This record gives sequence, structure tokens and C-alpha cells, in this order.
Amino acid sequence: MKLCMIGTGYVGLVSGVCFSDLGNDVICVDKDIKKINSLKKGIIPIYEPGLEELVLKNHKNKRLNFSTNLKESVKKSDIVFICVGTPTKKNSNNADLSQVYAVAKEISKSIKKFKIIINKSTVPVTTGDEIEKIISKKVNK
Ligand SMILES: NC(=O)c1ccc[n+]([C@@H]2O[C@H](COP(=O)([O-])OP(=O)(O)OC[C@H]3O[C@@H](n4cnc5c(N)ncnc54)[C@H](O)[C@@H]3O)[C@@H](O)[C@H]2O)c1
Repeated sequence: MKLCMIGTGYVGLVSGVCFSDLGNDVICVDKDIKKINSLKKGIIPIYEPGLEELVLKNHKNKRLNFSTNLKESVKKSDIVFICVGTPTKKNSNNADLSQVYAVAKEISKSIKKFKIIINKSTVPVTTGDEIEKIISKKVNK
């Protein structure tokens, strides 16, 4: 399957690499150009046992790619994973969901046919409904 991980941090990178090692074609997307350029050169920004070997192996066999182009990456994929940060808001215990909603808006601009959108970011209940609203508002126009 063709998969796209949006957010190439601990969750997006590790999950994406494992999915590629299972035989899927994976694009890991991030807005951090430095991170993406480093990954393309085989420089891994985090340490997890075995991660570097799997990144190098699957990048070399072209099942794992890195990109800053969210729109094109979503277009090429059947399943899109949202893996961006949800830090705690300053002065409250609530999660800041702005990155998740920003990505949902970006996805909505890129969708032209059916895709499965999976949210892997840690979010409160009902966030999935909000993501659906953001995406379907644009798609159903
Ligand atoms: N780290 C963990 O072990 C862990 C475990 C379970 C759940 N989570 C949850 O998963 C989510 C991600 O956690 P993480 O540790 O991977 O975060 P992280 O900060 O390591 O990575 C998030 C990445 O998303 C990128 N990003 C943000 N906005 C973007 C956008 N618009 N387009 C493209 N990329 C964008 C950032 O540049 C960053 O590289 C959080 O909600 C976290 O709570 C994390």
C-alpha cells in the first residue's frame, strides 16, 4: 500500500520505517526542511534501537522516502497518518490541537479521491469528528 506519514518525529518516523519494512511504500513528510534533508542523507535525528539500519535499508530500496511536499505526498498515497505534535497549552491542561487542524486543512486541499485518514497524534475524544468536518467541508464543495 502507499502510505504517507505527516510529521516525521518519534511517532511518524518510527511507524513509517516499520511500515516500509513490512513492504509498503511510505513517504515521511515534515515541514522541517533540515530534518528531511538530513534523513535523505541517512542522518537520523533520534535514537531508537535498530532504527538507523531500517531507515538506510528501506530508503535504499526506495520503499521509504522523505519529503516536505505534503500536497504531492498525500496525492500519491492511499492512507494518510497524522503524526504531528499536540503539546499541552500554556496556562491550561488542554492539548493544543492547532498542528493537527492545520494538517487536516492541508490534507483537504490535496484530496481528489477516497483516502483513509488516520490520526496517530494524542488527542481528546471528538477530535476525529473535527478533522472529518475540516476535510469534508473542502472535499464536498
Ligand atoms: N513520542 C512518543 O513516544 C509518543 C507516543 C504516543 C503518542 N505520541 C503522540 O504522537 C504525536 C507526535 O509525537 P512525536 O513525539 O512524534 O512528536 P515530534 O515533535 O517528535 O514530531 C512531530 C513532527 O511533526 C512535524 N510537523 C508539525 N506540523 C507539521 C506540518 N504542518 N506538516 C508537516 N510536519 C509537521 C514537526 O516538524 C515534527 O517533526 C503527539 O501527539 C504525541 O503526543 C507520541
